[in-house]
Amino acid sequence: MTSAKLVAGNWKMHGTSADLREVQAIADAAHALDGRVEVALCLPATLIHRAAEAVPGFPVGAQDIHMADQGAHTGDVCAAMLHDAGAALTIVGHSERRDAHREDNSCVRAKAEAALRSDLRVILCVGESDGERGSGRAVEVVCGQLDASLPGGEAAAGAVPDSLAIAYEPIWAIGTGKIPTTEDIAEMHRALRQRLLAAYGDAGGQVRILYGGSVKPSNAAEIFAIPDVGGALVGGASLRAADFLPIVEAAAR
Ligand code: PGA
Repeated sequence: MTSAKLVAGNWKMHGTSADLREVQAIADAAHALDGRVEVALCLPATLIHRAAEAVPGFPVGAQDIHMADQGAHTGDVCAAMLHDAGAALTIVGHSERRDAHREDNSCVRAKAEAALRSDLRVILCVGESDGERGSGRAVEVVCGQLDASLPGGEAAAGAVPDSLAIAYEPIWAIGTGKIPTTEDIAEMHRALRQRLLAAYGDAGGQVRILYGGSVKPSNAAEIFAIPDVGGALVGGASLRAADFLPIVEAAAR
């Protein structure tokens, strides 16, 4: 297990072939950092194959997968297909999918297990709403999500810690420019660490816990200095190399 931070970009529904030059620039800069930070980009499904061919060895990922290994699921894409297209990892359980596609914890867990079965590393997202934070229930809610979403069984055996990362992403911080206080991030990461230890024993101590939600060049260094922040999941600021690379460099320091 590496102690290097993981900085993953989440392009969401942005990017066409013209943006492959950004992928190239990010991969080139990541390569030059020589393992001091691990960088990945979770792209729209349509770009995965071309990006993987353009930047061999650089981890290109998906943003979601179907929980089944194959079958009659019109419009869906399974883990094996994404792996075949060149993906090395996938996000599961992003709050935009939990919300817009009504994905519950058991669905997220099934997706995480499907990804691991097809040799995709997993970034599993959890996070509280504004109301849950306001009512003082954030830690309870997010730990409950984690407990019920974590992959288990055969899929998880051997995959933890290296193939699993958790992303703590407060819903109210995504795309808003707002972030929790340093103390609140530290408290949440501490609580998530306890849950990971309870679930996986010693291996749970090594799973990286990323922070996500309005990570920018201006706040990255401060966030990475918080105890047990093992990296970041970055949305808007990952679309352009000029914004993303200062965040990657902050994680390498
Ligand atoms: P943001 O998105 O960095 O644009 O806030 C983060 C995410 O949704 O993963």
